[in-house]
Amino acid sequence: MSMIGIVMGSTSDWDVMKEAAQQLKDFGIAYEARTLSAHRTPAELASWIEDMERRGCKAFIAGAGGAAHLAGVVAAQTLLPVLGVPIPSKYLKGLDSLLSIVQMPKGIPVATFAIGEAGAANAGLFAVAMLALNDPALAQRLKAFRDKQADAVKRAKLPEL
Ligand code: RP5
Repeated sequence: MSMIGIVMGSTSDWDVMKEAAQQLKDFGIAYEARTLSAHRTPAELASWIEDMERRGCKAFIAGAGGAAHLAGVVAAQTLLPVLGVPIPSKYLKGLDSLLSIVQMPKGIPVATFAIGEAGAANAGLFAVAMLALNDPALAQRLKAFRDKQADAVKRAKLPEL
């Protein structure tokens, strides 16, 4: 069963979006990643969303760049939570993607993450946190992940001058 659907507008987005997939994989969460575009393949996108819902998907992570309407279009077609990842773009460096995703009109929300790899990784971790609400073992693994990060900061030494 694919708990999380990862969708991106182009294969060129995968370099960023694979960070979301990696987090899910590290926590043992099943996902399905697809390239489907809101404007190039709208019908295929709609039937994939329907299919994922039937197969027990719990949330979608959608990444797109430029006039990045993909996450909003996914959110329009499902009641499941949609996490949006702005992909860096050539000329506006992802500011266009960020604003396209974050400025959803009232009524159809998209939880929007940072531009690029950090945003994709955090979308994956956010999905883990959502699933952990009903999965104590997963919550323990998430806690261990956080503890490991904290330990690394506590142990960190700055170079001597
Ligand atoms: C968007 O256009 C995609 O999400 C991608 O970020 C951007 C550029 O796509 P390609 O021209 O690289 O296919 O739809």
